Amino acid sequence: MKLSDNKATLSFSNGAPSIDLPVYSGTMGPDVIDIRKLYAQTGMFTYDPGFMATAACQSGITYIDGDKGELLYRGYPIEELAVNCDFLDICYLILNGERPDEQQKLDFDHQVTHHTMVNEQMHFFLRGFRRDAHPMAVLTGLVGGLSAFYHDSTDITNPRHRHISAIRLIAKMPTLVAMAYKYSVGQPFIYPRNDLSYTGNFLRMMFATPCDEYKVNPVVERALDRIFILHADHEQNASTSTVRLCGSSGTNPFAAIAAGVACLWGPAHGGANEACLNMLEEIQAQGGVAKVGEFMEKVKDKNSGVRLMGFGHRVYKNYDPRAKLMQQTCKEVLESLGLENDPLFKLAMELERIALEDPYFVDRKLYPNVDFYSGIVQRAIGIPTSLFTAIFALARTVGWIAQWNEMLSDPEYKIGRPRQLFNGFPTRSMK
Ligand code: CMC
Repeated sequence: MKLSDNKATLSFSNGAPSIDLPVYSGTMGPDVIDIRKLYAQTGMFTYDPGFMATAACQSGITYIDGDKGELLYRGYPIEELAVNCDFLDICYLILNGERPDEQQKLDFDHQVTHHTMVNEQMHFFLRGFRRDAHPMAVLTGLVGGLSAFYHDSTDITNPRHRHISAIRLIAKMPTLVAMAYKYSVGQPFIYPRNDLSYTGNFLRMMFATPCDEYKVNPVVERALDRIFILHADHEQNASTSTVRLCGSSGTNPFAAIAAGVACLWGPAHGGANEACLNMLEEIQAQGGVAKVGEFMEKVKDKNSGVRLMGFGHRVYKNYDPRAKLMQQTCKEVLESLGLENDPLFKLAMELERIALEDPYFVDRKLYPNVDFYSGIVQRAIGIPTSLFTAIFALARTVGWIAQWNEMLSDPEYKIGRPRQLFNGFPTRSMK
């Protein structure tokens, strides 16, 4: 970051002396006012619940311009990456800052592919869960559990250990998600295969059985790979900030990523894809497109507690670029699977059409986000609704681990320790 010539001056109406605060510029986006010495200088904190105007770190990984509806990984627009790369290209780019050359790509793919198996003992750990446990509960446990198996790579001060942990997490996440699924349906676990792509291997671990040969459908493989790409990173969102805060105490990477999985689960974040599909199914069951108007009235009624899931975003005040790509993927997948008349897709399009014209949504700048169409694609390719957020976690793992690694490499890194405005009892005595 660069110190700007501009300074911020903070003055007080009670006659206390004003202070100058340094301003820093990044390469793009808003400047920041450096308030690190504010408490020492004034005895005051800043107050910003929900981080509405607080940059908690510097980062060079992902950039979002919410007004334009722009998303860049390491400077490259998501629209270009989505059509020119596969998910492992994106992982390499996010982790290393540059796209891989041919040899680097071969080496990286080989490394990830050869870390996909999990310790066999993990099976016993998994078997402790009820069959009907939510996959996100299982995944939070399994990812945290990895720290008990891979002691040889948890020295966070060693960049080599951090790299091995990153590869392990990216490689093992599909295996864990597929294991959680197989366990829930009572089918045998399918071991990874090294001759398949990252996404092809995941599909096989999900849908193959020992009784039949499984052939990966390239349309489905490409669609799921696109989902992974679109979810790979999204700067300082709730789960990424959770990973950073958790990791800032010096805990091991598996524990920090498990915290990210837990945060992602919530319906305001990654859990919105599951909530969105459940919402579409509910409207469909009540009469479908004909009931859209009635449903929208409920959404606009503040007392109903109903939100249009898959709509709205803290940062995007324009169409989420991921939602545009997802809508296009959705169309392509449904057409190539012969599901072009899918009623839920029609319903989603109608909800979007109405919302984009309705002053409630227009005035609040509420647009479809990535979760609005992703559930329809996942459902079309056979992924059960309860597993949607686990798929998101699988894809976001690279972003989490890259952000964690960036934090640990930052010379200004400190344990995260927010402050508070205390509004409880002032000092009192039991006497
Ligand atoms: N349906 C109806 N009203 C909404 C919605 C929605 N989906 N989203 C926001 N609003 C209204 C909200 O009621 C408020 O109105 P008012 O100003 O009259 O009080 C205004 O828009 C601003 O909303 P907010 O809750 O203050 O905004 P936020 O930035 O704190 O929340 C959000 C962002 C994503 C949590 C929210 O838009 C939401 O709950 N959306 C539905 C859940 C969802 O789709 N989440 C996925 C986000 S993208 C993927 C990810 O991050 O994982």
